[in-house]
Amino acid sequence: MMVRSLILVFLICFWPAPGIVNWAFPPVHAAESYFVQKGDGYSGTASCRKCHEKFYKLWSPSHHAKAMQPFSTDLASSKLTPQPEELIIGRYRYRVDIASGIMQENGPDGDKNYPIVYVMGGKDVYYFLTAMKRGRLQTLPLAYDVLEKKWFDTAKSGVRHFPGLKPDEPVSWKDWPYTFNTACYNCHVSQLDTNYDLATNTYNTRWAEPGINCETCHGPCDEHIRVCRQVPKEYDPQRLKNNPQGQGIYRGTEQ
Ligand code: HEC
Ligand code: HEC
Ligand code: HEC
Repeated sequence: MMVRSLILVFLICFWPAPGIVNWAFPPVHAAESYFVQKGDGYSGTASCRKCHEKFYKLWSPSHHAKAMQPFSTDLASSKLTPQPEELIIGRYRYRVDIASGIMQENGPDGDKNYPIVYVMGGKDVYYFLTAMKRGRLQTLPLAYDVLEKKWFDTAKSGVRHFPGLKPDEPVSWKDWPYTFNTACYNCHVSQLDTNYDLATNTYNTRWAEPGINCETCHGPCDEHIRVCRQVPKEYDPQRLKNNPQGQGIYRGTEQ
């Protein structure tokens, strides 16, 4: 099944045990606070629509467009079903409340809430991101199986191997292999700025649009739009295509 292919198996040998990390109450960021208007000749998907409505309509419901999207109660009520019982991971119990978009954690350090900021995927499975300290977006351990309509512990398959030394160890969902800003962002947002600050180990990750937009595949289009806008009305835009010399571009003439 496709879900299996997505399951992350981490074959990390001799990875040092992480130090004690103080995961404070996560800050709540609006999904839009990660957006930045990208220069460098990019103009954004909205700018293509006027002239390429057909492509826009093909793209917008696609899994490229939706590779990552802000969490919304609309999405939750139309795509997810409530989680019938808590999932237990080690000494912690977890439940996602889809109405409020919060994952509740209950364990030895008390109760914590992790608001869902972004949703990833959705063909076979949805993953969820929450905001953590120092600009991290972290993949929640609870994921949703679209085909079986079930919540499951996706971090369960993450294992560290110490060949010949000691038994395998689970990888905590709070560890870096599940950090969006190291493990996922290259393929799930468009026109990425990593903005990592080594001195403070802080991420200030920004992107133009979540998901895979037109210009990820077609390249920056500012100049394309400028040229197309300047084409006089008596020209046939279809004939601009693959036609650097502009031969036969007038309507009603042959090449
Ligand atoms: C002002 C109108 C206009 C806008 C805005 C515009 N295009 Fe185009 N585009 C055209 C015309 C005209 C053509 C050539 C005729 C055709 O192939 O339909 C074209 C062709 C293309 C092609 C095909 C090129 C080829 O060589 O076959 C791609 C890809 C494309 N546009 C992508 C985009 C993207 C992505 C955006 C938004 C970032 C965009 N366009 C915005 C008018 C526009
Ligand atoms: C190297 C590029 C790449 C990286 C890195 C990456 N993804 Fe993906 N991801 C993809 C592609 C491509 C697909 C579409 C696969 C498909 O449709 O079969 C996808 C699909 C998904 C899906 C939907 C799967 C489904 O079948 O519904 C989820 C959820 C997802 N990724 C989450 C993540 C998370 C979380 C991370 C980081 C821990 C991550 N991805 C890192 C490329 C990547
Ligand atoms: C995942 C990559 C990808 C994304 C995202 C994407 N395209 Fe394309 N697009 C392609 C490829 C590849 C082709 C060529 C398909 C072919 O020749 O059969 C294409 C073809 C086109 C063409 C037609 C070119 C021609 O030959 O007439 C236009 C116009 C276009 N895309 C515009 C857009 C617009 C606008 C968007 C966003 C709304 C978009 N594309 C999103 C990859 C992409």
